[in-house]
Amino acid sequence: MKKILLLGSGELGKELTISLKRIGCVVIACDAYKNAPAMQVSDKNEVFNMLDKEKLSEVINKHKPDYIVPEVEAIETNVLIDAEQNGYNVIPSAKAVNLTMNRDRIRDRAKHLGLKTANFAYAESEEELILEANKIGTKVAVKPVMSSSGKGQSYANSEDELKASWKFALNGMRGNRKRVIVEEFIDFEYEITLLTILEKSGKVTFCDPIGHFQKRGDYQYSWQPAECSQVVVKRAQEAAKKMVIDLGGSGIFGVEFFIDKKEEVIFSELSPRPHDTGMVTMFTQNFSQFDIHARVLLGMPLPEIKINQSGASHVILAEENASGNYIIDGVEDALEDKNVDYRIFGKPFLKSYRRVGVVLAPTLEKAKKAANKIFVKEI
Ligand SMILES: Nc1ncnc2c1ncn2[C@@H]1O[C@H](COP(=O)(O)OP(=O)(O)O)[C@@H](O)[C@H]1O
Ligand SMILES: [Mg+2]
Repeated sequence: MKKILLLGSGELGKELTISLKRIGCVVIACDAYKNAPAMQVSDKNEVFNMLDKEKLSEVINKHKPDYIVPEVEAIETNVLIDAEQNGYNVIPSAKAVNLTMNRDRIRDRAKHLGLKTANFAYAESEEELILEANKIGTKVAVKPVMSSSGKGQSYANSEDELKASWKFALNGMRGNRKRVIVEEFIDFEYEITLLTILEKSGKVTFCDPIGHFQKRGDYQYSWQPAECSQVVVKRAQEAAKKMVIDLGGSGIFGVEFFIDKKEEVIFSELSPRPHDTGMVTMFTQNFSQFDIHARVLLGMPLPEIKINQSGASHVILAEENASGNYIIDGVEDALEDKNVDYRIFGKPFLKSYRRVGVVLAPTLEKAKKAANKIFVKEI
């Protein structure tokens, strides 16, 4: 039985753990807090700060896993580079994990590979941010180089807004680099995630594109297949293939693109693991993104991936000021529609707008309707 050290134990890690357990793996789930979703279904767990170099090395040496599988960005990736050099398998590869830990490294890589991106620059102070935003000359998006789910991310169109964005980014960042990416605001028609599978042999395969909608920089709902023209699909596939081959290794990647009016495909970001917008694949595909990641990381042959039915996912969120314990109410009402399914993540406590579950349904309309009937109540 292969032993997997899972670094990050949120909802994506939980579903991945279930997929890995189904095919006979032993999973040790790690995160900074007790009883995280993946820990509820794993064999063992370790609670520690994964940005702590010594602690992370200690946990790797203690368990000696066959595979180290990151689920979040906030990991001391230098330890993973060393681990790979010492013969450990890091999924998809230490290079991929290291380059995607911070937004700047992966964006620079995309530019180097000739992908189309929004105009962008970096800033390490308020003054520098204002200077760079003025050079870009349009409304801009400002994001800490290390953050996820829209944390610390905002838009700015004036000097006052840029000052507020700088403060907001510092409050929302992870890690210790006071650095933001400032990028041209793209008035896109729609955005997609292209789940891209890289096998050990170097073979690249794609799932059907997933359309998604974000609020506060955080995913609200997604659907698959997204209605993209053949030109868009071809452009996105070419760009994603270039990126994953450069990063190397094996696993599934979530590659995000903005599509503009002229059908230009603009690279936004990449996660070297299953993607939150890809939860819809639990409903639509014969093998979900988690089943695929599990098999491919183990070096198993990739099964034929098919869409069984089109579908949509919609998040179940906590309120803005939420904290502490909670219950989820209204699920029975939501399930009056016989085609609706759902997942509750089992997060042990609430935070502002924390994602606690997801509704899965055949259409976006049904997913939204069902999600509207479900409430997260603090107790
Ligand atoms: N330059 C931009 N122009 C327009 N919208 C953007 C831009 N950057 C980010 N967004 C919006 O914010 C969302 C989250 O940004 P992203 O860079 O993917 O951050 P995260 O890592 O938190 O997912 C995007 O999916 C998109 O909707
Ligand atoms: Mg994103």
